Amino acid sequence: MQAFLQQINDAAAYLRQFNYHHATAGIVLGTGLGQLVQQVQVEKSIPYHEIPHFPESTVESHKGQLIYGHIGQVPVIAMQGRFHYYEGYTMQQITFPIRVMKALGIRYLLLSNAAGGMNPAFQKGDLVLLTDHINLQPESPLRGLNAPAFGPRFPDMSRPYDKHLGQLLEQAALAKGCALKKGVYVAVTGPNLETRAEYRFLRMIGADMVGMSTVPEVIVANQLQLPCAAISVITDECDPDNLQPVAIEEIIAVANKADEKLSGIFADVVAKMK
Ligand code: HPA
Repeated sequence: MQAFLQQINDAAAYLRQFNYHHATAGIVLGTGLGQLVQQVQVEKSIPYHEIPHFPESTVESHKGQLIYGHIGQVPVIAMQGRFHYYEGYTMQQITFPIRVMKALGIRYLLLSNAAGGMNPAFQKGDLVLLTDHINLQPESPLRGLNAPAFGPRFPDMSRPYDKHLGQLLEQAALAKGCALKKGVYVAVTGPNLETRAEYRFLRMIGADMVGMSTVPEVIVANQLQLPCAAISVITDECDPDNLQPVAIEEIIAVANKADEKLSGIFADVVAKMK
């Protein structure tokens, strides 16, 4: 445990040399969703493998670099590419960057992801604000971290997504002529997609969309009392009675298409959150 704290401090100390500690916002960009970086005046971009103790991204569609720069006047850290459980990392590795960004002083976190839409009102390309989540991944990222330095032992999760940030995202979307939908995200491990019976099950337990990320990071953000908000891009429609085969390339293509709108919304909110 001491070792893990030391690793967080080492990574933060390394990044302080390059001004990352000035950032007020942290942003995690999901599969096929890297365009936000074009709206950042990038001052530094460090491949994950150069940062002490950072896991290395293994997914091709994720670039794997930690960016520091400004959106408008606001200094931000953006993770271009995140870590997933299906890549073989531990939950602690997946959420390590969140702890490092918090140690550097970010005040809030925005996350994006690609997700399968199970709510029949959702269509490919829709942007959905997460209102809540269900964790079906096999482990909590807080398991075993028993020191007070990590935050409360039993964090409250009655409102995991920050209401104010959500409202700002909704307003920014509306200003662009796009009404965000709202939904409950369920996290599974992947990397396989779901069977028809699984989509039916996930819908029955109360989820509107399904994906392989975000929830571990949000749990840690809650432990750290770091306000967060997340948006899913619906990349495939998961109707168990009419399920079409889907390839990851299609998922990425749909995410790419929605990325400009999503990035614009994130950028507007960050620029306003000074
Ligand atoms: N299931 C799980 N994860 C996903 C999906 C899906 O259908 N689409 C995009 N990510």
